[in-house]
Amino acid sequence: MKILMVCLGNICRSPMAEGILQYKANMAGLNWKVDSAGTGNYHIGEAPHRLSQKTAKLHGIDISQQVCRQLVKEDMLLFDKIYAMDISNYNDIKMISGNLWDATKVELILNALFPNQNVDVPDPWYGNENNFREVFNMLSQACDAIIKNVTTDYKEKKFITNK
Ligand code: 4NP
Repeated sequence: MKILMVCLGNICRSPMAEGILQYKANMAGLNWKVDSAGTGNYHIGEAPHRLSQKTAKLHGIDISQQVCRQLVKEDMLLFDKIYAMDISNYNDIKMISGNLWDATKVELILNALFPNQNVDVPDPWYGNENNFREVFNMLSQACDAIIKNVTTDYKEKKFITNK
């Protein structure tokens, strides 16, 4: 399964989300490929924010090799699932993907944790280390839920098939 994490800058939130989900998927033995992108073009080619790198590293996750890129409409075809960090990212993904938009693939990431509540992951760009930690913790819980939901779905489908 190919999963894309999307925020505005691809410098603070989505690089952490990519690192966290890839790490947890690997730990769970899932053959997932996780990537991230930004809807904006401010930081193309840069490494993740210093505090995103530091916060992830404190949890044993190295995101220093990630390189910021901008979302392109073809990402809608390349990925099975696209997670937006907030509602404005969601609307920008819709605009950028144009005629390739597929609503079944795109979801606010915190809806994995709080279904249908449309809660945003706050942007820590102007914040401090605590804000980055809070974001990390939200994303970590959301990624646990993503893995749990997918593996539960899988088990249920398998169970139905076996009947
Ligand atoms: P992100 O945060 O979307 O979580 O990467 C931001 C990073 C940079 C900017 C805005 C948000 N910026 O305006 O440069």
